[in-house]
Amino acid sequence: MKNISSDRASKFTESVIREMTRICLKHQGVNLAQGFPDFPAPREIKEAAVKAILGDLNQYAITWGTPNLRQAVAEKFAWYNGVTVDPEREITVCCGSTEAMISSLMAIVNSDEEVIVFEPFYENYGPDTILCEAKPRFITLHEPDWHFDERELTQAFTNETKAIIINTPNNPTGKVFSREELQLIADLCLKWGVVAVTDEIYEHILYDGAKHISIASLPGMRDQTITINSISKTYSLTGWRVGWAIAPAPLTASIRKVHDFLTVGAPHPLQEAAATALRIDRSYYQTLAKEYEARRDFLFRALGEAGFRVYCPHGAYYIMTDVRHFGFSDDMAFALHLVEKFGIATVPGSSFYSHFSMGETKVRFCFPKKEETLQQAGERLRKFKESRMKK
Ligand SMILES: Cc1ncc(COP(=O)(O)O)c(C=O)c1O
Repeated sequence: MKNISSDRASKFTESVIREMTRICLKHQGVNLAQGFPDFPAPREIKEAAVKAILGDLNQYAITWGTPNLRQAVAEKFAWYNGVTVDPEREITVCCGSTEAMISSLMAIVNSDEEVIVFEPFYENYGPDTILCEAKPRFITLHEPDWHFDERELTQAFTNETKAIIINTPNNPTGKVFSREELQLIADLCLKWGVVAVTDEIYEHILYDGAKHISIASLPGMRDQTITINSISKTYSLTGWRVGWAIAPAPLTASIRKVHDFLTVGAPHPLQEAAATALRIDRSYYQTLAKEYEARRDFLFRALGEAGFRVYCPHGAYYIMTDVRHFGFSDDMAFALHLVEKFGIATVPGSSFYSHFSMGETKVRFCFPKKEETLQQAGERLRKFKESRMKK
């Protein structure tokens, strides 16, 4: 029999993040692995979805998104990110930012062209580059503040470079790229004709006065940037699968073709409700950030007290930790110990790096959780600490 799996599919493994969720369910653990909220989404958005379904918006929408949602995306991109776009020609609604990213990369990257990726990176970007047969070129973000080396980045840009993936605020580090850092990246993109593909899904989850800047808003970058976003994190709707890619018209034309043949379109009634979400009262975003800050502070303290080396995030909803001193053989061994013995699921750090060794002392915790869930996690972390003190 022929080898059933394609070479492409053989080059990556199943998602470690989603696997940790399955292991967590088996051990009835607290899931601080996969980044989704366990609290309800805003009522008015859910009601808008119900209304759309009862109103029979149940057939295919226009492939690249309902006019109402594209208009809402354009309005919000103008007021929050400071960039004006044409919803008719520059927005493609996709099945989450996950599909927006892969459709965008497939639309612009030829096989063997290079794509620069900062690491640690959101797990999907690895398989994304493999699926579009690109050559990933990794640039390390160095702890404790997750800075990158300017010279290393400058040297990574060549004639072979097609795109650079940016994720700010960043998963898994919590880094919020500064204006200076983005300007440096923008200068290199403009010099080498490289497309910035920026995943801004955590744009409203910011702490300590951090400000979100879209690279598309920097001079000259509007025509060379694909900005990706979704309703998943901002409105606690990860299961609805509605996201979008904003790009200049020629890029959008390519993205729309790939998107059409990959998925046809995102769920029609949920697109209508997403338009309601994007027009929610603006005070919602302040409350969102404030509530997340309280969750971050709680988990940050609990992890520190339990003996973890903790890197404080300034955005997104994850905390990276170093666990080397606990003496386990690697990150997976530690993560399995924590979920099997103490019922806390995390993500082994190596799943965010191109080389296992770079992440083998780290684990990531997430905190989009109700107060009682975090209290429970805090209790379990105390037990973990006690068990170490007995040794
Ligand atoms: C950086 C980043 N991008 C994209 C996603 C997935 O987003 P979506 O639900 O819109 O596909 C996640 C989910 O954790 C993420 O952390």
